Amino acid sequence: MTLRAFHDSARKLLDPVVYDYVAGGAGEERALNDNEQAFDRYALLPRVLSGDGARDTAVDLPGARRAAPVIVAPTAFHRLVHRDGERATARAAAAEGAVLVTGVAATAPVHEVVAAAHEANPEAAVWFQLYPHPRREVTVALVRRAEEAGCAALVVTVDSPVFGRRTRDLRNGFSDLPAGFAAENMRGLPGSGPDALTDIPMSASVRWSDFAAVVRSTPLPVLIKGVLHPDDARLAVEHGAAGVIVSNHGGRQCDVVPAAVDCLPAVCGAVAGRVPVLLDGGIRRGGDVAVALALGASAVGVGRPVVWGLAVDGEAGVRRVLGSLRDEYDHTLALCGGRRNSDLTVGMVVLRGGTW
Ligand code: LAC
Repeated sequence: MTLRAFHDSARKLLDPVVYDYVAGGAGEERALNDNEQAFDRYALLPRVLSGDGARDTAVDLPGARRAAPVIVAPTAFHRLVHRDGERATARAAAAEGAVLVTGVAATAPVHEVVAAAHEANPEAAVWFQLYPHPRREVTVALVRRAEEAGCAALVVTVDSPVFGRRTRDLRNGFSDLPAGFAAENMRGLPGSGPDALTDIPMSASVRWSDFAAVVRSTPLPVLIKGVLHPDDARLAVEHGAAGVIVSNHGGRQCDVVPAAVDCLPAVCGAVAGRVPVLLDGGIRRGGDVAVALALGASAVGVGRPVVWGLAVDGEAGVRRVLGSLRDEYDHTLALCGGRRNSDLTVGMVVLRGGTW
């Protein structure tokens, strides 16, 4: 099954309101659509007579040595699409050697998610995603939960000063989780109730000093997610980010922003190799992974495809999605004359259709 087929099957299986929550984006969904369409604008010039039968696609990421170059990006509320929820995603990612980013919007608590991952693979790395909270004690409590659970790194999402206007959710009246589901990691934190989508803490008053406070509060590496401007990438490194994730939140926040992959070269230029740069948004095939790595990403995240795999076949579905991306990427690397990820270089990237 291609990733497209998983998406089609999930659409048929899921409650249309839940499907729209996962599939939809902000505003007119231009950023959402552009994330995928942008990959149609890039092409790779393979190198010839330079490959090897044995390829090595592993990558060292914060808290995760020799991980797969495709990680599971944070996505919300997995139990809405499959009864096994985040635990199944965790087992699948761990078995495939992929970092899983769980987070505040998980419908299973982080300690259970990490335990499920470690059962499947004791070496597995789980990262925890959170939004910086203007009340530092809330952020600190979340960080402690992630540390105690055994997370290997934190991911601070910074593209959400306010909640995006998701057109489909507004039309469907989807703002509260159905009974029996909750953002479990928010339970019992000061000032939050865990059963409304808008209770996922987001604040327009958080600043770089709040990001720096998270970095200081923990021995864990802290990545920053949702950076598009190269000047912010520079600031992120200056404030102690252990990695920069170029992302427009799957087109779910600000509809006027470019495709994530179009922002990657400038961010990589600004970061200048000081920390790894990752990308999420629009990765739908192994060739997209290759383009992102050639443009300078150390690894990429996939969000919706993993949710579709989970919806269709639980743990096995997620494994098939990750496995198919891994195999397609390895195949593309071979066809491009590469032995390792770093053999894909920006000098191999051209615009499809060409301009000269
Ligand atoms: C979302 C929020 C919860 O994108 O991050 O659905």
